[in-house]
Amino acid sequence: MLAVSCRRYGAPDVLKIEEVARPTLKADEVLVRVRASSVTSGDVRMRAFTGAGIFWLPMRLLFGVLRPRNPITGMEFAGTIAAVGKGATGFRVGDAVFGMKIGGANAELLAVREAGAIAAKPDGLTLEEAAVVPFGALSALAFLRDFVQIKPGQKILIHGANGAVGVFAVQLAKHFGAHVTGVCSTANLDLVTSLGADQVIDYSKTDFTRGPDVYDAILDTVGSTSFSRSKRVLAPYGRHVFVVQTLTQLLQALWTSLRRGKRAIVGFSSGDSKEDLLLIKGLIETGRIRPMLDRTYRLPDIIDAHRYVDTGRKRGGVAISIGAAP
Ligand SMILES: NC(=O)c1ccc[n+]([C@@H]2O[C@H](COP(=O)([O-])OP(=O)(O)OC[C@H]3O[C@@H](n4cnc5c(N)ncnc54)[C@H](OP(=O)(O)O)[C@@H]3O)[C@@H](O)[C@H]2O)c1
Repeated sequence: MLAVSCRRYGAPDVLKIEEVARPTLKADEVLVRVRASSVTSGDVRMRAFTGAGIFWLPMRLLFGVLRPRNPITGMEFAGTIAAVGKGATGFRVGDAVFGMKIGGANAELLAVREAGAIAAKPDGLTLEEAAVVPFGALSALAFLRDFVQIKPGQKILIHGANGAVGVFAVQLAKHFGAHVTGVCSTANLDLVTSLGADQVIDYSKTDFTRGPDVYDAILDTVGSTSFSRSKRVLAPYGRHVFVVQTLTQLLQALWTSLRRGKRAIVGFSSGDSKEDLLLIKGLIETGRIRPMLDRTYRLPDIIDAHRYVDTGRKRGGVAISIGAAP
């Protein structure tokens, strides 16, 4: 089968399209014929190995010290079931599915644990739209529910409101009944308003930490805010959640966890919950949330797709069409 490989860390041109062996199917797995995948901010980070900060060593031990341990890139997929393992009972050959598995999704075939983050493709979405849902939506759900601990009526500010995580964070926060302020650049103000944000702030013109509004929570999906500066606009027990971690934020998180009052919190998302994926699918099918597909590239153009995601300026997700024209 054809797959995108990354056999050394570096710039987008380390990527190659190779003929590799088909995955072997375990009893508790299903084989997905991938028709659409994606390039996420997580994929470009794993390729370039930048931004790991103090986690550089543990991440390198996890993903491969000298070169990537699993050379096949990609984590989001949409396609059809090509085969089912002996013990897998939840899917049938031909079912349309979508989901997330870290590593291996930029390929024609992918073996996925049936109990993992895989579910029937949401009705009404194209394969490319479905392929840009799981990473952003599962992350946004985990950050809002588990780290912000969002409640109806709360005022929340979402920094990076038009990124893959941001577009879902805005919509999910509205779904949970919060008053949402989205922060983005001028070009994305209309998009973030269309996602349901009550207010939008253009970060190139306004510094939200100097404004009159006070927030119960700030979710920073970019890594460019600071707890020290945002304290002024956080409510007395407000939470500032960071998803891009630095040593300063970890120390602030530790320090503020020992005291009452405003807290810095470091969030993470494993992205492997089937239950959460089913929740997201239901919200899409009932029209509560929708994906934002920025661009679709064909598999042979994977290097261009990585170059675009490397800019850090995409709107929602970037899909890769596999085996068919976009
Ligand atoms: N810890 C975890 O488990 C976890 C899980 C998922 C994601 N993440 C991390 O979360 C981050 C965001 O992921 P993503 O996929 O949403 O990224 P993305 O799609 O590339 O979006 C990045 C966003 O940053 C905005 N941006 C760029 N420069 C900015 C600035 N100076 N001020 C404000 N906004 C700025 C861009 O909007 P404009 O074009 O409008 O500037 C864009 O919306 C990544 O670093 C990713 O690794 C962590």
